[in-house]
Amino acid sequence: MEKMVIKGGRSLRGTVEVSGAKNAALPLMAAAILTTDEMTYHRVPALKDIKTTKQLLLQLGVQLDDFTSGALRIKAREITDHTAPYELVKTMRASVLVLGPLMAREGRADVSLPGGCAIGARPIDQHLKGLEAMGVRIELENGYIRARSKGLHGVEFRFDLNTVTGTENLLMAATLARGTTILRNCAIEPEVSELAHVLNRMGAKIDGAGTDIITIEGVEKLNGIVHEIMPDRIEAGTFLIAGAITGGDVTVQGCRAEHIYSLLKKLDEAGLKVETEPDYVRVCSNGGIRSRDVETNPYPGFATDFQAQYMALMCLGNSTCSISEQVFENRFMHVQELVRMGANIRISGRFAKVRGVPKLSGAHVQATDLRASASLILAGLAAEGVTEVHRVYHLDRGYERIEEKMSSLGADIKRAKDDMV
Ligand code: EPU
Repeated sequence: MEKMVIKGGRSLRGTVEVSGAKNAALPLMAAAILTTDEMTYHRVPALKDIKTTKQLLLQLGVQLDDFTSGALRIKAREITDHTAPYELVKTMRASVLVLGPLMAREGRADVSLPGGCAIGARPIDQHLKGLEAMGVRIELENGYIRARSKGLHGVEFRFDLNTVTGTENLLMAATLARGTTILRNCAIEPEVSELAHVLNRMGAKIDGAGTDIITIEGVEKLNGIVHEIMPDRIEAGTFLIAGAITGGDVTVQGCRAEHIYSLLKKLDEAGLKVETEPDYVRVCSNGGIRSRDVETNPYPGFATDFQAQYMALMCLGNSTCSISEQVFENRFMHVQELVRMGANIRISGRFAKVRGVPKLSGAHVQATDLRASASLILAGLAAEGVTEVHRVYHLDRGYERIEEKMSSLGADIKRAKDDMV
């Protein structure tokens, strides 16, 4: 195993280039199942979750070719297997994204049930309910969802709650269904719009993506295209918070300010100087950090994927604030670790009360999930002394070359072999 060793106390300054978005790339890779043609993606981030998705596609009989750095050709000429096995789904819940495309193309899929995970129970009932409405017979057997259909048909379906991958799964399934599908109460995250945009370029007939009602007119077949993955808004925001928490000045090149508007607004309220241009965002410290409450919500609200990083920042705020997690019921696993670094945080249900402290101090801490890991790295950058973040494999699921990028901004951060875990 590996760990990150951070000597804190250096201000991060400079410019860093954003990578392609993990949460856009994952559904787009699954969407390649919908066509026998070749799909070519550029700016595919080098991440553990991307590797897992490649393994999953290979298992299904799909051909893959990493022809140059960040570029990936996917050709699903034939599907020879229909199983997303437990070993892959348990490491990456987004494996469930093959369910919609497999049903649309093959009429059968065996996908392991994801079960619980570090950030909550995360059921997939909405994915299944939607597919059932489209004519899929679903049985649960030996921990697997066994889905079968003799052909999907269009349907009017309303999600009971906002789900990103749920919307993506049904969107993909409906592209090849017979007739028209109307999905209501859809997720409107930019990654959903990106998927719809790519599917339309492939020949799908999708209207309304980016709003909560999406209409899909089924087509006979889809074609291959070449596409560059959108910038990763969560990675971008994480680097901007790194600048803020270290009293520095960081510019993220290639990121779209409109995708992280809620975060930027909060950073502005917290006393940071925020500058936005069409192709970059800059956040620069003005001295102290003002404590400001936040509540996570589906897009365009404050993203749950920023909650842990924002909490690290608020640990050094000038007074007290409340952080409310409204998307996942158990996404405060970083709190105990931040407390070990000297933070003053109390949790009550979905609320965390963060009382700012003058300084954090380096410690050994354990990463528990992807964004929790990012929050501990940020805290370590700002802390006095040395922080060792263990279990960094969580971090490698979603941040490309993070130590290299942070170092280029002046951080003292190194990856090392971990004998402790
Ligand atoms: N939910 C249900 N039933 C469902 C689906 C969701 O009850 O059928 C609940 C979940 O338990 C959760 C809420 O609805 O409480 C929202 O979950 P959602 O389905 O939107 O999450 P997701 O699609 O599994 C994606 C991202 C997450 C991100 C969330 C919320 C991908 C691959 N993952 O997950 O990203 O936190 O949306 O924005 O797109 C990350 O990148 O670190 C990450 C966890």
